[in-house]
Amino acid sequence: MSSAISQSVAAQKTFFIETWGCQMNDLDTQRMSGHLKLRGYRRVNDESSADLILLNTCSIREKSEHKMFTRLGYLRELKQQKGIRIGVCGCVAQQEGEAILSRAPFVDFVIGPGNVGHLDSVLDGDTRVAVDFPQDRRYDYLSLDRSSAVRAQVTIIEGCNKNCTFCIVPTTRGREVSRPFDDILCEVEHAISTGRGEIELLGQTVNAYTCPSSGRDFADLLRNVAGLAGVHRLRFITSHPAEVTSGMIGAIRDHDNISRFLHLPVQSGSSSVLRRMKRLYTRERYLEIVAEIRREVPDVLFSTDIIVGFPGETEKDFAETLSLLEEVRFGSFFAFKYSPRPGTAAPRIGSPVDDAIASERLVRLFALQESIEQETLRNYLGTTQEVLYEGPSRHDEAMSSGKSDHNWTVNFSVPARPEVGTMVQVLIREVRHHSLRGEAVT
Ligand code: 5AD
Repeated sequence: MSSAISQSVAAQKTFFIETWGCQMNDLDTQRMSGHLKLRGYRRVNDESSADLILLNTCSIREKSEHKMFTRLGYLRELKQQKGIRIGVCGCVAQQEGEAILSRAPFVDFVIGPGNVGHLDSVLDGDTRVAVDFPQDRRYDYLSLDRSSAVRAQVTIIEGCNKNCTFCIVPTTRGREVSRPFDDILCEVEHAISTGRGEIELLGQTVNAYTCPSSGRDFADLLRNVAGLAGVHRLRFITSHPAEVTSGMIGAIRDHDNISRFLHLPVQSGSSSVLRRMKRLYTRERYLEIVAEIRREVPDVLFSTDIIVGFPGETEKDFAETLSLLEEVRFGSFFAFKYSPRPGTAAPRIGSPVDDAIASERLVRLFALQESIEQETLRNYLGTTQEVLYEGPSRHDEAMSSGKSDHNWTVNFSVPARPEVGTMVQVLIREVRHHSLRGEAVT
């Protein structure tokens, strides 16, 4: 580096972002990072060399919130040693607002998810707490600092109009706002032109998408995005079971490049718990939806989210969740102990489940899912899977690594390393704990 350039790099302001939570939060980090770079900041991976530190927080469960305050305690010391700025972003920012400043006055600003596009006004000191939902959300995809070279996440709908009684999301991310159809297609085309062949459409309830000007729905959008040249794989997350339509299923069936991996959170296998959660479907209806999708798209693999210990959950309710897992045979899942969230209705709906009982249920749930997952993985032995190559394996440099259509990590050997972003056919030879291994075939 010439000395003039190295001096200007040294003089450049730097920022560090830490991200918790869902894909939406990830994307908000990519948006803020891109924006800061446009303002001349440089991103660093080491917080001690940053001038600006952003914590992009999650409040889906209480634990995530605690984590944030623990981190702030540490950053306070860093701030005492050198003059850094600290911003709290994301869902805890939205939920706690001003209260964060009372508890941690050394925080410079608080900015909620609705204001990511308005980062300038807090950086310029016009506002210290930005937690409203401005009409003008300013979503600038051209300045996104994408985190992956092979995959682009594209928001299609923000917020959620469901009122699940356990969930904080409607408070932290507001009511549903869908983006204009053509705007989404432009962003996807732009992402493809930058070499990203895998597109992941994002929304808290992604399949509730409705174009605000034309009324076109999620099925229309899937068909149009899948039809764009250069979209090698199309994923979307998160679907709400009550919003699954035959149009959406038909779009998946008709387009081979739409992933056969479907995340469909069920939350519980008991209709009585589902009713108190206000999930808008029964166990039977969920199973019907799964069956209908399997009829049209036989090679689909489901994954799900489960909450154990929801207020009033009995052993019988829990047994129904276990039996639902056996019946559907999800490839993978996320399972959580219920965590009461401020302002939600669930705590008033039933008596709390003893923590030890909830923990024990979680252990049983994981044990069952583990055996189902291992069996699922063994079914791939001897098959050929299409893998999107992402780079050398993290654990073994000699191996190449990527994701299969069913979202499994596949590590494979190949005589000559392909270009990042290439689809590789891999013969599966071995099953590991949560991954597959094999060799590239031509
Ligand atoms: N407690 C526990 N888990 C929750 N989730 C959402 N809210 C809560 C809560 N209060 C889980 C749900 C959801 C996933 C993203 O987080 O399973 O699908």
